Amino acid sequence: MIDMQHVNMVYPNSVGALKDINFSVERGEFVFIVGSSGAGKSTLIRLIGREFLPTSGSIRVFGKEITRLRRREIPLFRRSIGVVFQDFRLLEKRTVYDNVAFAMQVVGASPREIRRRVPEALEMVGLAGKAKRKPDELSGGEQQRVCLARAIINQPSLIIADEPTGNLDPQTSLGIVDLLKTINIRGTTVIMATHAKDIVDRMKQRVVVLENGKIVSDEQKGGYSHHAH
Ligand SMILES: Nc1ncnc2c1ncn2[C@@H]1O[C@H](COP(=O)(O)OP(=O)(O)OP(=O)(O)O)[C@@H](O)[C@H]1O
Ligand SMILES: [Mg+2]
Repeated sequence: MIDMQHVNMVYPNSVGALKDINFSVERGEFVFIVGSSGAGKSTLIRLIGREFLPTSGSIRVFGKEITRLRRREIPLFRRSIGVVFQDFRLLEKRTVYDNVAFAMQVVGASPREIRRRVPEALEMVGLAGKAKRKPDELSGGEQQRVCLARAIINQPSLIIADEPTGNLDPQTSLGIVDLLKTINIRGTTVIMATHAKDIVDRMKQRVVVLENGKIVSDEQKGGYSHHAH
């Protein structure tokens, strides 16, 4: 589903953020990306989302070389991926329902499909009773669940999440990761960058450790703790 070969990323005016990354993810996997601040986690996630191009190397997603996408193909590619952010990025003036419905409107879903699927997604994330609230009337964990509903509403086969629990307390964080795992079990590939050591240890999923822009460990059913931190 994802295959990176010899990927290097050098930002303007900086040392290399990623150095010769060779990394692939199969359909249906759940992968944690961990490593100290500045290790390159966000850079890796953002490259997969085609937010920018690597300095060199190949990145294939869904069998397609995304470094060669034409400018006009990029929005369509991005919409085929569910993205979850640390800072939620909800539409503050819109209701929970509208935030999720909007993601369907932009891909041209019919009003009928929207009326059917939005309540299902809100039910799935446990927010069925809060559809009419605005984001500022929700807790942080609830806002992140709206983001999850929005990320899954167009049934992407891949979700990328960069520290989705970064602003949440440990208990709430666990709830969010459990939800991501539920989504994963239903067939969606999930890649999540995180600092949440306890959660990573507990979930027993594949763990990729980045250090200074390099992959230093990649283990199935890994933990965070063996990583000198
Ligand atoms: N837009 C940018 N311009 C220049 N350098 C950048 C930019 N973004 C990141 N970097 C540098 O690239 C390296 C990797 O950054 P990145 O954000 O990928 O790390 P990270 O692992 O996500 O860290 P954190 O855990 O703090 O989020 C760091 O040295 C950082 O300073
Ligand atoms: Mg980061």
